[in-house]
Amino acid sequence: LDNPELSPFEIAREAAGQIAERTGVDRHDIALTLGSGWSKAADLIGETIATIPATEIVGFGAPAVVGHVGSIRSVRLPNGKHALVIGARTHYYEGHGVRRVVHSVRTAAAAGASVMILTNGAGGIRESWSPGTPVLISDHINLTADSPLEGATFIDLTDLYSRRLRDLARSVDDSLDEGVYTQFRGPHYETPAEVQMAKAIGGHIVGMSTALEAIAAREAGMEVLGMSLITNLAAGISPTPLSHAEVIEAGQQAETVISALLARIVAAL
Ligand code: 6GU
Repeated sequence: LDNPELSPFEIAREAAGQIAERTGVDRHDIALTLGSGWSKAADLIGETIATIPATEIVGFGAPAVVGHVGSIRSVRLPNGKHALVIGARTHYYEGHGVRRVVHSVRTAAAAGASVMILTNGAGGIRESWSPGTPVLISDHINLTADSPLEGATFIDLTDLYSRRLRDLARSVDDSLDEGVYTQFRGPHYETPAEVQMAKAIGGHIVGMSTALEAIAAREAGMEVLGMSLITNLAAGISPTPLSHAEVIEAGQQAETVISALLARIVAAL
């Protein structure tokens, strides 16, 4: 992926071929990227057919952060469809380039997935969102100043986060709020002034993933469902300083409930 001469789509096709070979599943219908707090959903959506260490698939690197799991799973859903569960996210802040960040999305598309579910743990700007609250992503603001698209690829991002899938999620749980996800580069959390900026420009959630992946999913023609677990209130909104340990802990505490919610949404697809 680091070689600009090689097509990232060709490498994604190669990765999808390896996954098909290793899982015995020719076609995965949907794909899920499970961020902090969402991992248990992999066990709840169906029966795991195969688990592959991500590093054994071309283009995937080792996980950089403790608490992030580095595996790719094939899961058979109760309706007979197959889900590709990606527990190996490459974050933009790791500095491996945006091709690496979106490789899993392009691989999922090459594996046949038409629905991409992107989840993450994130900071909340709305004070009413206590830690542990799941929120639907309605739109995003990409503050990385980067794009997964190369060259003159002008694509429309209206309804990037599918209204159909958001409505479907709310048919499972009508108490789900939604908000605009703001992707910062990280890996530091924002300053209180940056959080106020995000709020002023229309953001409700702050995080370090998802937006670039959603753009790549749209480019690949997939329908996107985005969900954030609010692990903490953002800097300045929260009365206390943020810590990665607390973010992980909040994710673990909410994990059972939100993973079950996600499993019900997947079953309704
Ligand atoms: Cl407050 N900011 C960002 N960018 N990511 C987060 C977060 C905050 N809390 C959890 N993840």
